[in-house]
Amino acid sequence: MARGQPSRREEAWAPLQNRRTEPNTKMKLIKYGKITLGILIMVITAVVIGLIASFVAYGKTPFYYHISFKVNNIDYNSKFKKPYSQEYMDLNNKIVSLIEEIFHGSKLRRQYVKSHVVQVNQVKGKLLIHTVLKFKSYLNAAKFQNRIETILREKLKDETGPLCIDPSSFTFSDIIMPEAENLLNICCGQRTITPSGNKIAGGLDAEEGEWPWQASLQENSVHRCGATLISNSWLVTAAHCFIRVSDPQGWNVSFGLLLNDPQTQRSIKDIIIHENYHYPAHDNDIAVVHLSSPVLYSSNIRRACLPEATYTFPPNSDVVVTGWGTLKADGTSPNILQKGLMKIIDNKTCNSGKVYGGVIKPGMLCAGYLEGHVDACQGDSGGPLVGKDSKGTWFLAGIVSWGDECALRNKPGVYTRVTYYRDWIMSKTGL
Ligand code: ARG
Repeated sequence: MARGQPSRREEAWAPLQNRRTEPNTKMKLIKYGKITLGILIMVITAVVIGLIASFVAYGKTPFYYHISFKVNNIDYNSKFKKPYSQEYMDLNNKIVSLIEEIFHGSKLRRQYVKSHVVQVNQVKGKLLIHTVLKFKSYLNAAKFQNRIETILREKLKDETGPLCIDPSSFTFSDIIMPEAENLLNICCGQRTITPSGNKIAGGLDAEEGEWPWQASLQENSVHRCGATLISNSWLVTAAHCFIRVSDPQGWNVSFGLLLNDPQTQRSIKDIIIHENYHYPAHDNDIAVVHLSSPVLYSSNIRRACLPEATYTFPPNSDVVVTGWGTLKADGTSPNILQKGLMKIIDNKTCNSGKVYGGVIKPGMLCAGYLEGHVDACQGDSGGPLVGKDSKGTWFLAGIVSWGDECALRNKPGVYTRVTYYRDWIMSKTGL
């Protein structure tokens, strides 16, 4: 068929074809739209995944600030020098709840982590209070710091509670993490973790940060004894750990849950053994160890509280012994710190004929079960036996000293009684 004038039929077709091309463009447009939308969704998903991944990988960044201010309506007294005095603790509670109130009522309530009074000084007979605050945020450091400072300045200016704060004395600065954590973890006998289930039979693996005062005394990097951190530069342990080697140079100390992966280590400057310890007698089995340089406290390295000489751990009360000692007499040693829950046994019971028949001295303390089962063992020596007071603070009750084998019936563990040697510890360490 020749091409010329379109036939009627063709004419008739033409608009039909046109009609067909119109929906074609629309479909193409829809198609391109879909593709673009698809790409957009993919890009957004990628960005979101990237952000989530980076948050998961890096988490929120902690920020620490140091603030100080004067309080004009409380008179200074020397009790504020001791962070464990009732005065210090009451003041700390007041300041912490004030700061909590400020941030819980602000847009940064979810970023606020904690705060603690770290020092109290005196100015003209009144208080100058230093406090460290911890936050966590994804925000940029400078912006975040600015927001915190603004909130604090504003709220402290308007504060009308029981503390009469002098707003003109307010100072604010950021502080680096290890230094801030050191200040935040300075309290004795506290821990930041709440351990999970504690159904102890023989002994159980401890958790990270559960017994932050536990140290391992090592000779040529081999674990020999346990020890307890009682300040940032002093440990208390058993005298018998040094029978063979008493030169500090032969020893080092490691901290943390695992022996093969310590949190930190220190060498030793000085070992002071009780002057009346005479091997093989078990009396006065106590020594203090001075670290070559102080440790920085952290959530996993903290000190235990030393009880006053007059403090009593009631018979039958719960205590916990911890260490890397063998799992049974002549058994193997674990890499992970072990804990054993047990009871204080009074000296009278412990001295009875069927138990230790009179060899338990007033400077000793028994703990365990007369049925056996849970006990310290070889390699736990020098380590802590701790008990909790009514407020949940952990105090050092005993130092692993000796026992007839391990976990035998009627042969509980015998510990150096810390309250009995409290003044001796003070005389050597000033603590
Ligand atoms: N003397 C042992 C040591 O050097 C500790 C003994 C503790 N024994 C006991 N049954 N509680 O590691």
